[in-house]
Amino acid sequence: MKKYRISVIPGDGIGPEQVQATLKVLERVREAFHLDFQFVEAEAGDDCKRKQGSALPNDTIHTLKATDVCLKGPVGETAYDVIVVLRQMFDLYANLRPCRAYPGLKCLDPGTDLIVVRENTEDLYKGLEFEIAGSALALRVTTARACQRIASKAFRIAELRNRRKLVTAVHKANVLRKTCGLFAAACREEAKLHPDISFEEMYVDAAAMNLIREPSHFDVLVTTNMFGDILSDEAAQVVGGLGLAPSGNIGDGFAIFEPVHGSAPDIAGRNTANPNSMLLSAGMMLDWLGEKFGDSDCHAAAGSLETAVVRVLADRVTTPDLGGNHTTAQVAEAVAERIALEVIR
Ligand code: NAI
Ligand code: MG
Repeated sequence: MKKYRISVIPGDGIGPEQVQATLKVLERVREAFHLDFQFVEAEAGDDCKRKQGSALPNDTIHTLKATDVCLKGPVGETAYDVIVVLRQMFDLYANLRPCRAYPGLKCLDPGTDLIVVRENTEDLYKGLEFEIAGSALALRVTTARACQRIASKAFRIAELRNRRKLVTAVHKANVLRKTCGLFAAACREEAKLHPDISFEEMYVDAAAMNLIREPSHFDVLVTTNMFGDILSDEAAQVVGGLGLAPSGNIGDGFAIFEPVHGSAPDIAGRNTANPNSMLLSAGMMLDWLGEKFGDSDCHAAAGSLETAVVRVLADRVTTPDLGGNHTTAQVAEAVAERIALEVIR
């Protein structure tokens, strides 16, 4: 049996509460599916910076390099120094952010089932900002290689069995003619290689409107880094809010899974954070491990984890962000029990 080594970053704010809840659920997954997990804790974020003088110490980078995958809680004001740096350092070029309308939840459009495929390594988030004589400049970096590989990723996702075979490339090439122009051209080229997939282009302002006008129109929404950051928070709200929004930062050999949201300092320390964003991120992680190591038990565990989350939501066991009065730990416990039930069945 393969032992999966998983680095775990608790992070800041609600991060440690969500991570603790998620590790309990993964413990149940481990028993139910006879999987072997080894968790290795690694520090990063605001607290870590206060204690160690660095938000992303070398020890943490070494730990990540020595593990198969990383599960990360949100961090606070040091988000750039931690996750943006890690994405570039490990070349995690695809940020996958699925948004699904689950039964029984308040949602704009019950048919919503989309995935944002966000370029994750360049654009304005390269961090190349300068101050010159009272002005501030930011460089928007767009390379043909990054555009091609994110376009290719989007089309390969659109070809998966559970997708509706539509890719929407979101950009602003009418104004940002060079940078978005390169991205749009790469998507058009990739579309020619996938005649079985429908392809359309949409300007980002129109996409922001259409995401709330008719979210179920979208299937695979591929876009550049900053547009994807903004649109994925919007898409999350469409299906019930950030407390349900998972993500994966995916490279060719390594990946980091984390909630879409930040450290939510306004609700930290109260045991009221919704753990589902992190539980669903852990589900995505199990799927990725299953894919990478050809392990059908990981895929089965991922499916059962998502099903358990959906059933517990349908039973109205929810935290206050979804109108309930359960705690983080209670929701996680309900999901863990549900996983055990799923397996017995
Ligand atoms: P946020 O995403 O932390 O919170 C936005 C709103 O959503 C808040 O009202 C919060 O209470 C709510 N929320 C978020 N997650 C929730 C959950 N699981 N359950 C219930 N409610 C939840 O965004 P904000 O306030 O702009 O940022 C806070 C900090 O997070 C900042 O320091 C920022 O730099 C950092 N951040 C870190 C990220 C990362 O680690 N990848 C990503 C985004 C922000
Ligand atoms: Mg964001």
